[in-house]
Amino acid sequence: MGDDPSLRAAYRLCRRQTKAQDPAQYALIQLVPAALRPACWALWAAANAIDDLADDRTAAAFERAAQVEEWITALERELADGASTDPIRHALVDTALRWRLDLTRLHGALLLVRDDAHGRRFPDWPAWRAWARDNLLPWFDLLRDLFDRAGVPVALRLDSWEVYEQFLDGFRLTDTLTDLSADLAQHDLLLPDEVLNQYPGAADDLMYLRWSPAVAEVITHLTGLARQWVNQPSLTRGMHPAPATICHTMADLLRAQLDAVTSAGPSILRGPPRPALLTSTRILAPARARAALAWSLTPVTVPPPKDAVRRRPPVPHRTVPRSTFRTPPAHPSGQQPPKIPAGQTPTHVAVIMDGNGRWAQQRGLPRHEGHRAGATAVREVVYGALEIGLRHLTIYTFSTENWKRAPEEIDALLRLLHSEVSANPFRDLDVRLRWHGGADRLPTDLVDLLRMREHSTRTRTALTLTMCINYGGRDEITRAAAALARSTARGHLNPNLISEKDFAQHLPHPDMPDVDLLWRTGNEQRTSNFLPWHTTYAELYFTPNLWPDTDRRDLWLAITEYGRRQRRHGATASMPTRASRAEADPCDS
Ligand code: IPE
Ligand code: IPE
Ligand code: MG
Repeated sequence: MGDDPSLRAAYRLCRRQTKAQDPAQYALIQLVPAALRPACWALWAAANAIDDLADDRTAAAFERAAQVEEWITALERELADGASTDPIRHALVDTALRWRLDLTRLHGALLLVRDDAHGRRFPDWPAWRAWARDNLLPWFDLLRDLFDRAGVPVALRLDSWEVYEQFLDGFRLTDTLTDLSADLAQHDLLLPDEVLNQYPGAADDLMYLRWSPAVAEVITHLTGLARQWVNQPSLTRGMHPAPATICHTMADLLRAQLDAVTSAGPSILRGPPRPALLTSTRILAPARARAALAWSLTPVTVPPPKDAVRRRPPVPHRTVPRSTFRTPPAHPSGQQPPKIPAGQTPTHVAVIMDGNGRWAQQRGLPRHEGHRAGATAVREVVYGALEIGLRHLTIYTFSTENWKRAPEEIDALLRLLHSEVSANPFRDLDVRLRWHGGADRLPTDLVDLLRMREHSTRTRTALTLTMCINYGGRDEITRAAAALARSTARGHLNPNLISEKDFAQHLPHPDMPDVDLLWRTGNEQRTSNFLPWHTTYAELYFTPNLWPDTDRRDLWLAITEYGRRQRRHGATASMPTRASRAEADPCDS
């Protein structure tokens, strides 16, 4: 925090607000080492602040939604400036920069809060669960990243994801039961109709704040369910004892909270029940001792103060070696990436990898051998992207038009894709894998595998590798238009006021930054339905080499060429030209 008095005051405010609004969370945060607490307070205070804006019933729904939107936009702007006039965002921005937390992950959750301003109803548990998870998981993921950066990763075994998500469902349901009176006062009943309908009359009684046998029964049912979800002994299996202690204590506090809900009876409709002080002390006193011992096992790594905090988070791979990830194998020539001046490097390179078929043909081989050789080129180029510090690499792997090819070629291609993703060549590298495209027509085992990889790599930060599989630009735009139409039909958007930003937010991957450089190999000069929305101002670069002949040095040449381009974005040459969208909008990087 250094000597900046406004920043110290900002963190103090976050601490006070967390303590006042969420004493149980505050007590949990006290279990982490002092160096990590300010970041935790900033995250909790920010989550609370935005919830309060959405709940502020002194304003109309559209005003509340607009206030939340304003808050999100201000955060995006302030992340670029590194400073803020709002104390909570000031602390949050400082936390993000200091700990290299990627706040773009919050975007979806923040938009949900904006939409919450209009009120919500859930027909069934899946709908409720989707909302609860989309809302909570990104915040918890950021906390997990924070621990990761501090050198104490909150590792979850792959088979623990389901229990982790269910634990968070338990957290959300306990919260909903606790805040029932406040939500009902605002005519919000944040429980699925599916469960309310099992107890005839319960929904109406709740809306009119009437305590009745049906209400008592539904609350008993829900507390039982929450208790079951919170009770996940396998969650902390294999976890470092310090975060494990925090998870156990959190579960104990949630159970105490549920006991308080049960013993509150009718008074649950008048105010939030709280566990007795003695109960909390009985949980927290031994937890403090256990946590102190557990933290003493591993020294916590704290990022250096102030002077090391830059305007934008540094590229993690190049500047902060992470012991958990390997560096990519060097190119056989020993060649190193060129030094490109800061500000002349693209944030996002998209590649149309063309020429596999011709490469095979030239060698008298079947076309699928060209695709196999192409997969090796992809590995090479990913290594080169990591070495040069590129943040986003998007590769055109299979287009919606490629279904027109011979069934044998399609079959071979999809099988090759499955085996390549399943071989997991970037397992030890800081590469986040994403898949862009439609699930229809793709084999379900490939879809499952891609989703699993997306999930297991989603906390990685150096390079985002997006594979466009069964992707078509017009298909993407059509999906966005349909999503936009759904939002307007629900009354979340005024069709007369739809902006480019609204449209972009309805794209299947709203956080994908604009493409700075579009590179196509294989001696063709067309874009073949690739990323029409994102490439409107991309620099175009066409090379004659066939994709399987490509290696990382070709990527470096492409990036060097990009550095020579004059980007004007419609302005005149004297204006600043090289600002890529990501520089203008760090929330997208
Ligand atoms: C690009 O190579 C890879 C895919 C489209 C899957 P091609 O298979 O299009 O190769 P050419 O253009 O026929 O040489
Ligand atoms: C574009 O290549 C699609 C991919 C690289 C996946 P194509 O080879 O299919 O493109 P066209 O048909 O020549 O335009
Ligand atoms: Mg081709």
